[in-house]
Amino acid sequence: MDTTLKNNLEYTLFSWGKQAGLNPINAVKAKGSYVFDKDGKEYLDFSSQLMNVNIGHGDQRITEAVTKQMKDFAYVYPGMATDVRGLLGKKLAEITPGNLTKSFFTLGGAEAVENAIKLSRIYTKRHKIIGHYRSYHGATYAAMAVGGDPRKFAIDSQGAGNFVHVENPYFYRCPWNSTSFEECGERAFANLERIVKFENPDAIAAILLEGESGSSGCIKYPPMYLAKVRALCDQYGILLIIDETMSGFGRTGKMFGVDHHNVTPDIMCMAKGLTSGYLPLGAMTITDTIAAAFNDKPMALGLTYSAHAVSCAAALENLKIIEEESLVEKAEKMGIYIEEQVEKLKEKHPSIGDFRNTGLLGCIELVKNRETKEPITPWNAPADQMQITNEMAKKIRDLGMFTFVRWNWIFIAPPLNVSKEDVDKGLNIISEAILIADKHFY
Ligand SMILES: Cc1ncc(COP(=O)(O)O)c(C=O)c1O
Repeated sequence: MDTTLKNNLEYTLFSWGKQAGLNPINAVKAKGSYVFDKDGKEYLDFSSQLMNVNIGHGDQRITEAVTKQMKDFAYVYPGMATDVRGLLGKKLAEITPGNLTKSFFTLGGAEAVENAIKLSRIYTKRHKIIGHYRSYHGATYAAMAVGGDPRKFAIDSQGAGNFVHVENPYFYRCPWNSTSFEECGERAFANLERIVKFENPDAIAAILLEGESGSSGCIKYPPMYLAKVRALCDQYGILLIIDETMSGFGRTGKMFGVDHHNVTPDIMCMAKGLTSGYLPLGAMTITDTIAAAFNDKPMALGLTYSAHAVSCAAALENLKIIEEESLVEKAEKMGIYIEEQVEKLKEKHPSIGDFRNTGLLGCIELVKNRETKEPITPWNAPADQMQITNEMAKKIRDLGMFTFVRWNWIFIAPPLNVSKEDVDKGLNIISEAILIADKHFY
């Protein structure tokens, strides 16, 4: 076996799955929308890795910004002021909606969520947090507990407490059998409102939702859903925390997912596209109202690597690139093109039950039967029911592409500057993979 692979497999642990029998791509280089392996094989990156490499790979402007910062200094403790930290905070205050003003910097999304949960409890002096079942907010204890992703089952018995869940407004499989997208939104909201009352509004610190659903199946918010949640929060003094870790920084064709809904949260969490993955960084940005509450009392949050100067330098350069190259607008336009193309794929592939997309965050949902909507692979399927999904994932890899294939969803989330040629190529590869499901079930 190749030494790199051998070292990786023998001395390191890989996320989430069983460790035996792994065959990871042996990456040596990445440029634009492509990752190259040790044998020179190229992989079109159709999910921007973990939906984070928003500006594409290998941009040397980031290398230069990072190197410049490192030449001055790499690290000072978070009690010191630095140029890049101040400029990044100011930039985030400018691009986030409403009166979101002050940022606390973390290392990634889960830490941003973790600190948002803590701060909302400290600020409101309440303890419960409500989240969606179909959501993921990171792998630390509280972030896992507020999400509903089944990856949390392994640690559920010791999970963080006082988290309550509600069903999403998932129109394709609306839990309230709604006949329209709007109706599903209204019923989901009515359900949320009832649960808020049952749980005692005075005990609820926050409702914590994704800015736009990602790894739980790209479930779109019906019109007015988030606006109504905002009003419900205001009615009861509950904070609205929006997690833009995946949906932020142009991913959905707007700077943030909430920008589609004209909603300003009290706390916004972000990571991933903040640096496009060039270095680890997350942020929790709070309104000036919440910030003011800590003017005269201590804010009990801290991390050794908060506001790491090199990560801040990467983020600043990344945001400059996103703006200067109009990547948010490009994502919106390319998203519309992808939606048109997937419409055509629907005619060709009976397995496609639904396609949900916003900008460049999309999921194709595959079914055994369009009438019954039975998924080709069930949610949280055990290994022995993953055969078709695994075959499709293998096909995609064999054909030179990397993207997420999870149960009955295939993700389409390329870098925001992906070319039309690469989109066409990626969709052709996905079409080849879906043929496997078509042949099996039709
Ligand atoms: C919405 C959302 N929140 C939080 C996270 C966790 O981020 P991280 O893995 O950087 O901790 C993710 C990761 O996929 C995410 O999609």
